[in-house]
Amino acid sequence: MDFKKELAAILFELLDQEISAAELEQLIEKPKNTSHGDLAFPCFTLAKLKRKSPNMIAQELSEKIQSTIFEQTEVVGAYLNLFLNKKLVSEKVISEIVAQTNHFGAHEFGGGGNVTIDMSSPNIAKPFSMGHLRSTVIGNSLALIVEKCGYKPIKINHLGDWGTQFGKLITAYKLWGDVEKVKQNPIKELLALYIKFHDVAESDPSLEDQGRGWFKRLEDGDEEALMLWQWFRDESLKEFSRIYELMNVQFDSYAGEAFYNDKMDRVVRLLEEQQLLVESDQAQVVELTEEQLPPCLIKKSDGATLYATRDLAAALYRKENYNFAKSLYVVGHEQSLHFKQLIAVLSKMGYTWAETMVHVPFGMMLKDGKKMSTRKGKVVLLEEVLTESITMARHNIEEKNPNLENKDEVAKQVGVGAVIFHDLKNNRMNDIEFSLEEMLRFEGETGPYVQYTFARACSILRKGNWQEDVPPVDFHTAWEKEWKVISMLIEFPNAIQRACANLDPSQVAKYVVDLSQAFNKYYTQVKVLEESAEQPARLALVYCVTVVLKEGLRLLGVEAPEEM
Ligand code: ARG
Repeated sequence: MDFKKELAAILFELLDQEISAAELEQLIEKPKNTSHGDLAFPCFTLAKLKRKSPNMIAQELSEKIQSTIFEQTEVVGAYLNLFLNKKLVSEKVISEIVAQTNHFGAHEFGGGGNVTIDMSSPNIAKPFSMGHLRSTVIGNSLALIVEKCGYKPIKINHLGDWGTQFGKLITAYKLWGDVEKVKQNPIKELLALYIKFHDVAESDPSLEDQGRGWFKRLEDGDEEALMLWQWFRDESLKEFSRIYELMNVQFDSYAGEAFYNDKMDRVVRLLEEQQLLVESDQAQVVELTEEQLPPCLIKKSDGATLYATRDLAAALYRKENYNFAKSLYVVGHEQSLHFKQLIAVLSKMGYTWAETMVHVPFGMMLKDGKKMSTRKGKVVLLEEVLTESITMARHNIEEKNPNLENKDEVAKQVGVGAVIFHDLKNNRMNDIEFSLEEMLRFEGETGPYVQYTFARACSILRKGNWQEDVPPVDFHTAWEKEWKVISMLIEFPNAIQRACANLDPSQVAKYVVDLSQAFNKYYTQVKVLEESAEQPARLALVYCVTVVLKEGLRLLGVEAPEEM
């Protein structure tokens, strides 16, 4: 049902195969204003090639074109505008969706290739930040989108569970820690210890030495150090898991930074063998002058490895174990330099697959225009945000639909969905302003708005007694009023393809908002439930809207309750 492609094929023949169908497809436009047709072909490029006026070419094509899919053509200046045959196309798209249900919109261009997605990746003993929320939400949606396009996603939580900060944390715990307190509220308590360490170290620099000492013991495999580290990690993970459960996100791997401890010697050896490692300021670095990047730090003077070293080891490990077709890193844009360096070093090592690694950056979450920061205890704890959102959704339900059966379940779907949708509806590079009121609105571009539209469509189907196994419906009308909704349905596969190509879930989020708007408008204009010859076909259309809205929301990681 790719009409651009079909038109390109037709033009290809009409133009005596002079320009490739792929090139023609690139030229075809979709007019913003549907009164200019469903597709438009500008003839400027051809005019140059054929040394004729673009208007003349448009005229010629318009006379020659013969196809059942287009019911009308029109020449406006250099443009050939084409109008789809509404009846034929409507029948086609509806029967396709009815037959394919939630598989509608799928692509196969992924060819089963693996896509590793480095996502979420919070740091142990630190709060789960808004940046980690964004990474989780965007990464999860990208996994669903690439899967829909025929790839196999592998979601990896690259936990920040190693580094000098654990030496400091152990020092602080040994000095001031309390088992019970940590057990009761692990992250809050561990963060407090960490902050205290820095406060005290300002007047007592010997603390830093102790911290380094404990980290050294940790790296050397000291039993007590390892035990404490493991305990901090377990307790932190328990807290993170609650958030993942709320958001319904699972991972294929929790191999964090520590996982690569025994895999870094090899990286250093490989770099040495290729004579890429040089001494600089007593540290071992890879120079990246040709790439116009600062040197990549591999090993500190005391032999300690770094974040970048672990990421090099992780990249090799992932290539060898998953043989990825693409490797995505969903991490805030403030780490752009790090990923440029990472990819540059791997390219220097001769790994051509480094080109298939993509940093997928995103903007910040702001509160009143300022960055939300976790430092100095000024934290907005994510779990609180989610529970607050669920509570507010629960209030809304109580007001609007007090007799709803599974209120708690729906409140969770709406509350969490609102947070996720708010994150995904804008291009991921934009900073977003955090506002629960905004997220939970039932009007405008929000998750609840789309969910509500879905629920409303479901209720129409219930009232109309729609059965999924009805025989193919008869399409009597010319489908004028339905056309806006139909033409939106046709767009679903394209929206998914764009989201995959640009690694941008907002393409799907915007799409479901547009479809919802088109549907709501239609619903106010046409009495779908009224007895008429068109009723079965109209119910089929409503059904198709529910299928596509539900699937679109699913691709964002948002659930769709049938009543709310
Ligand atoms: N833990 C890091 C942070 O919170 C993010 C890790 C991103 N992934 C990676 N492979 N470097 O900043």
